[in-house]
Amino acid sequence: MAGAHRSAPPSPAEGEGFGRGALEAVALSPGADLDGFRAAARRLAGRGIPPERVLWSIGEASGLFGAPAPAPSSEAPLSLPRGVGEMVARVVPHRDPERYALLYDLIWRILQGERRLLEISSDPLVHRLERMRKAIARDLHKMHAFLRFRRVAGDGPERFVAWFEPDHHILGAAAPFFVDRFRGLDWTILTPEGSARWDRETLAFGPPGRREDAPAQDGFESGWRDYYESTFNPARTNLAAMRAEMPKKYWRNMPETAAIPGLVRQAAARTGAMIEREPQMPVKRNPARAVAAMADQAPDSLEALNAIIRRLEPLVPGATQAVLGEGPVGAAIAFVGEQPGDQEDRQGRPFIGPAGQLLSRAMAEAGIDRGEAYLTNAVKHFKFEERGKRRIHQKPTAGEVSHYRWWLDRELDFVAPKLVVALGATAVLALTGKAIPITRARGPAQFEKPYAGFITVHPSYLLRLPDEAKAEAYAAFVSDLRRVHALGQSLAA
Ligand code: URA
Repeated sequence: MAGAHRSAPPSPAEGEGFGRGALEAVALSPGADLDGFRAAARRLAGRGIPPERVLWSIGEASGLFGAPAPAPSSEAPLSLPRGVGEMVARVVPHRDPERYALLYDLIWRILQGERRLLEISSDPLVHRLERMRKAIARDLHKMHAFLRFRRVAGDGPERFVAWFEPDHHILGAAAPFFVDRFRGLDWTILTPEGSARWDRETLAFGPPGRREDAPAQDGFESGWRDYYESTFNPARTNLAAMRAEMPKKYWRNMPETAAIPGLVRQAAARTGAMIEREPQMPVKRNPARAVAAMADQAPDSLEALNAIIRRLEPLVPGATQAVLGEGPVGAAIAFVGEQPGDQEDRQGRPFIGPAGQLLSRAMAEAGIDRGEAYLTNAVKHFKFEERGKRRIHQKPTAGEVSHYRWWLDRELDFVAPKLVVALGATAVLALTGKAIPITRARGPAQFEKPYAGFITVHPSYLLRLPDEAKAEAYAAFVSDLRRVHALGQSLAA
């Protein structure tokens, strides 16, 4: 792509104020000229110029980047009810050439005394503006969801470029989302009307790009495709809804959509196979690895990570939902269990069934506030075998534990505890990659992670012990948790 970037969104090339008979001509910059419109509206309203005397026009594209910034308006801000400023900011990016005239009409009528005009949704002007506002919201959503960065080939510093064709002039409004999401990357978004560049410090807007300026392929193509394929649920294929949500025009810029026609063709057969499948038969695909391959584009918050985990298909069909971790980000102590049980699966919360209740009791006795700790599991879905009406817990295999390891690691990265407690052998395997007997490793441990470790038994082990052994084992468990509490306090101090 060519051209220098400025450090502010495109702003006015304005020739306001020269009379044409009784008309006031206002020329704004192409695109979303919010500053230009605000300044002009203030001046016009300040001088009592009614909408029918204003001729709004949009300047030549050549003025977009070379034009001097407008002189600061000396007019006082207009006194408008709440919501008007937001409506203006939302509608200005609309492609409709009448948008400025409509918005000035709105402002004028409000200033003339219709203070509650925006609340009258049956008013034709309000109705039209509202539809425009919704169109912009939809366009922003599509850009946030469907834009794909691709790595620029070469030996220089790592850079990413994306090509996108929004329906409206939303580049300026959409860019902050990507700054937030990909703050650590050097990226450029090219559109037919302008470009946005983030160099890890500054967001700058520049001239249009061309589709050919964005790399067509990069190493993440197959990662996105694998990820999409692995999370695609054939039983839920609804082409009409898919097209409404993800219009075909965006497909060509999204590597994963290459898989859609094939997946749709196979959907009926795969659904049949899912119904036939033995409940224990593991699904072979590995979304964790696929996403790990796209490390740079991986989720950048616990919330974003959880949104993906929620959509993961269970490795073994049957679970009601993925059970996410619970507790505050920044908790000093995190507890990692094995996998959700029957109750957890039904209610979508970790450690609320019998083992969880025992854990809560022991934590309280050891002085640990459960609400201040973070509780999660190595495996995010309940694996079970049906016996009559009962769902009997099945231990996850090493392969299943390793499938979820990437997610657990990212989760703990975001929570950033000082101390992680592995409850039982599955948690130890998930945190270390090694099968270590608890009896040998019980106590403080080193997981080669940025937090201290501690290994103890899983509370469900205590529940399975014969009655005569329970009290002693429980006391030892509480004593472990007392050490955990003390360690957590000293590490957090
Ligand atoms: N056992 C676990 O390991 N985790 C839960 O959430 C419940 C029981």
